[in-house]
Amino acid sequence: ERRKAVSEVLAKLKLQKYESRKLRLNDVLEIDSRSLMDKSPQKLRDLPWHFLRKVMALNVTARNTSLRCGATVGQRSKVDKEEQGIGEQIFFISDTDTKVSMNPLDILCAVLLCSDSFLQQEILSKMSMCQFALPLLLPALNTPRCTLLLWAMRDIVRKWRPHSLAQSRGFKEESLVLTQMPTISFVRLGSCSFSKSQLLNEILSPSQQHHDFFVHQDLSSGNVPRDIADGFVEISWFFPGGRKNLDLFPEPVAVTNLRGDIESHWLQFSFLTEVSSAVFIFAENITEREYTLLSSLKESTTKYYFILNRQAGKPSETLAFLNKLAPLLKLKNSHMLMKDSRTNKAKFVEKLQSTIQSIMNSSPKKKGIEDMAVIARELGIQIDEDHVECQTTRNYVKEITSEIKDVVYYKQDMLKLQGDLWKNLAKVEKELCRMRRQGDIPAEKYKSQLKDKMLELRNQQNKCDLTDGLIKFINSIRHLLPLEKHYFLKWMKFQLDHIARRNLSKLRAEYKEKCKSVGDDTKKLAELDKLISSTSLGVEHFMRELGQFYEAECSMVKEGKILKSGRQFTHLPGIAADLMLEGFPIELIDGDASNIPLQWVTDILSQLHAKLRGRSKMLVLTVLGVQSTGKSTLLNTMFGLQFAVSSGRCTRGAFMLLIQVREMLKKELGCDFLLVIDTEGLKAPELAKLEDSYQHDNELATLVIGLSDITIVNMAMENATEMKDILQIVVHAFLRMEKIGHKPNCQFVHQNVSDVSAHEQNMRDRKHLLEQLNEMIKAAAKMEKLNKEIKFSDIMEYDLEKHNWYIPGLWHGVPPMAPVNMGYSEKVYELKKYLFEFIKNRALKRTPKDIPQFIEWMKSL
Ligand SMILES: *[C@@H]1O[C@H](CO)[C@@H](O)[C@H](O)[C@H]1NC(C)=O
Ligand SMILES: *[C@@H]1O[C@H](CO)[C@@H](O)[C@H](O)[C@H]1NC(C)=O
Ligand SMILES: *[C@@H]1O[C@H](CO)[C@@H](O)[C@H](O)[C@H]1NC(C)=O
Ligand SMILES: *[C@@H]1O[C@H](CO)[C@@H](O)[C@H](O)[C@H]1NC(C)=O
Ligand SMILES: *[C@@H]1O[C@H](CO)[C@@H](O)[C@H](O)[C@H]1NC(C)=O
Repeated sequence: ERRKAVSEVLAKLKLQKYESRKLRLNDVLEIDSRSLMDKSPQKLRDLPWHFLRKVMALNVTARNTSLRCGATVGQRSKVDKEEQGIGEQIFFISDTDTKVSMNPLDILCAVLLCSDSFLQQEILSKMSMCQFALPLLLPALNTPRCTLLLWAMRDIVRKWRPHSLAQSRGFKEESLVLTQMPTISFVRLGSCSFSKSQLLNEILSPSQQHHDFFVHQDLSSGNVPRDIADGFVEISWFFPGGRKNLDLFPEPVAVTNLRGDIESHWLQFSFLTEVSSAVFIFAENITEREYTLLSSLKESTTKYYFILNRQAGKPSETLAFLNKLAPLLKLKNSHMLMKDSRTNKAKFVEKLQSTIQSIMNSSPKKKGIEDMAVIARELGIQIDEDHVECQTTRNYVKEITSEIKDVVYYKQDMLKLQGDLWKNLAKVEKELCRMRRQGDIPAEKYKSQLKDKMLELRNQQNKCDLTDGLIKFINSIRHLLPLEKHYFLKWMKFQLDHIARRNLSKLRAEYKEKCKSVGDDTKKLAELDKLISSTSLGVEHFMRELGQFYEAECSMVKEGKILKSGRQFTHLPGIAADLMLEGFPIELIDGDASNIPLQWVTDILSQLHAKLRGRSKMLVLTVLGVQSTGKSTLLNTMFGLQFAVSSGRCTRGAFMLLIQVREMLKKELGCDFLLVIDTEGLKAPELAKLEDSYQHDNELATLVIGLSDITIVNMAMENATEMKDILQIVVHAFLRMEKIGHKPNCQFVHQNVSDVSAHEQNMRDRKHLLEQLNEMIKAAAKMEKLNKEIKFSDIMEYDLEKHNWYIPGLWHGVPPMAPVNMGYSEKVYELKKYLFEFIKNRALKRTPKDIPQFIEWMKSL
């Protein structure tokens, strides 16, 4: 029967074809005309796409499944009227308005059923940012039993401050599925006349700030009966922010919610009784039948609580049976909570909160989702990651990562090429371009000295053997099937993040504190900065190492020291190009060495060009700005991408990522895809004073501005001096571009502006910004020894009115419990729409380059 219901739902939503060929992330990210239109859904078939697009853009209205009141609904009600012979009557009973849409939970089930595991992961990550409850157990839709979603939650990382750390201002940051905490479950026995989900939302909402974690009947279309989502278990969390008066609880706690009656979903219920510290059962009547059912729980060690609706049932009978149950389930008087229509809601919620508090005080069992999976397996519940591809690749990754005891040492010993060897190489290479320390050595001689030095360093690199870990890494990305490779890289990311996270988050917290209190202690800050970079470890370091092996081999071949036929690494750029096509970010600029591995990047791009059969016109879009001000988040929100954020590590250098443009739109946009470049934050002003890092920032800015067609300058800053520093860097970069005849478009994004009328109010500021920029340009032109008069409009394409964006802060309220701010996603979406209009209208002054042109251009820069 359920099979039939599922088929019907999928048919209504026109999703049948995705039941076998699952939807992938690329299907959702691809730029097509639908992603640029903002129509409310009109037909049932629009709903899954509406949900997907909205949730990817962090739009907190994503779960609204109401259809726009269009012609179809109106007509139907007219037909209804005629059938019922009520002609011209104004008041009549019609149930059309409840049945025209679908329950949001049904949509969620259908979408998850039709998504592959990577898209599922992305959906859940974004839902978690919106503070939506997440699916924990998916009902048995196309499987004999329900499924626990563990893999789908693996990418979520949460940060919080338990009260025990409030004094020291420390915080915890951990992968959600590994975080152990008590779980409290809420279930229903029989029918219940008030909304359990609504009550849960009240319990979890911070004071004065209601949030709908769980879908409930008063949400748009939340009242539509569920077709397939019965037996769904959702989970949500409370995390403290370290503010004793405002936090509901001092420690994290998980709350689950079973949809449907426990009698029909006994497996789910059994699971919940085992993983939870307490189970709250909502009921109206408890009769012989319910008594028998519940008395089978007498072996259970969980605490049970009853929430009874006093009016609805037969209180005396219910109480009699509860008294019989009390010794079996070890119920005390406090385990029964009565509610009726006279009960004050706020008081009742407080009572529940304090009950939960007392459960948390009684040293309850603590479990993470990974621990729950063990119990689920015993009960015969399926786990989404229990299949061969996922488990074997996990083991491959373990073989690599089990050797990492200390990140700093591991990088020194096992990723040698990118250490001092490459950093020195980068220095010599730059000196070769600039010839600053030439002294009185004749130019030719100096050059050849430098070249010898480079060759010597490359030679040293080339002599290194591939380490065991690298061999395993290469074998995996080379020989695994695409699906397995995808799992492999994800596991690498999770494991490496996990290993590096603890030390990194400590360092980053320290860094932040130091930034605030900095006096003359720039030395210490610089040290910390260095430590952060040596403590970071991600897949990009492995890729970077491959790049260096490749580069070293290439220069040996050029010098004739290796025969062409003896090359080992020729296949590597092709592998990296495949990864790019599959949507992985690839490092363009190594932020640690502050250099581009030119041969490596060139060959990857050439391979890409070949794989695209020469159709590789791309539009390059870049974001620049101060570090940790949400540049990656901006890009991720705009395009649904996965640049690393909040994993305790900030972007170093610059990464590039491909977004495909759908065939139909290619002509309109004049390009085949979009190349998005995410850059490392420009340094905090304290650090910028250190000569080295200032130079690094300048180089980075010059290069990425040079490469891009559109540059977004992110101005999320609280104080004006920081902003000035960044602008100065940007201006210099644009000026250098002017010298070589390149004039990119520039968009300024002012983040963290809360006022709705910001654009009007800030007219004066914009004028001021322009004046400031013009001043800077004059000064910069002098420094760069340009004699002509240069205005702003000479060096960048910038429209005072149209190219300034005011974007409110990301969070609505105070993290970690704050959902994404509506205004944030709305403004980011507006910016995206504008950019595409801009491209479409050919307002851009230049035509997009294809890859060979891009490579030439990059080399000249
Ligand atoms: C839900 O969507 C419908 C149709 O798009 C719209 O009319 C309604 O205002 C929305 N409700 C909420 C609460 O956003
Ligand atoms: C509870 O008992 C009352 C009175 O017999 C009945 O009207 C009501 O439908 C029952 N409710 C449930 C959930 O069985
Ligand atoms: C974290 O730092 C400590 C102290 O510096 C070090 O002993 C430990 O090995 C580091 N852990 C990792 C995983 O690098
Ligand atoms: C935004 O403003 C809030 C409040 O002033 C501040 O705490 C937060 O750090 C700011 N965020 C950014 C990215 O500047
Ligand atoms: C969210 O989507 C709705 C419906 O398409 C749209 O009206 C609204 O402006 C969007 N809001 C945000 C915050 O993006």
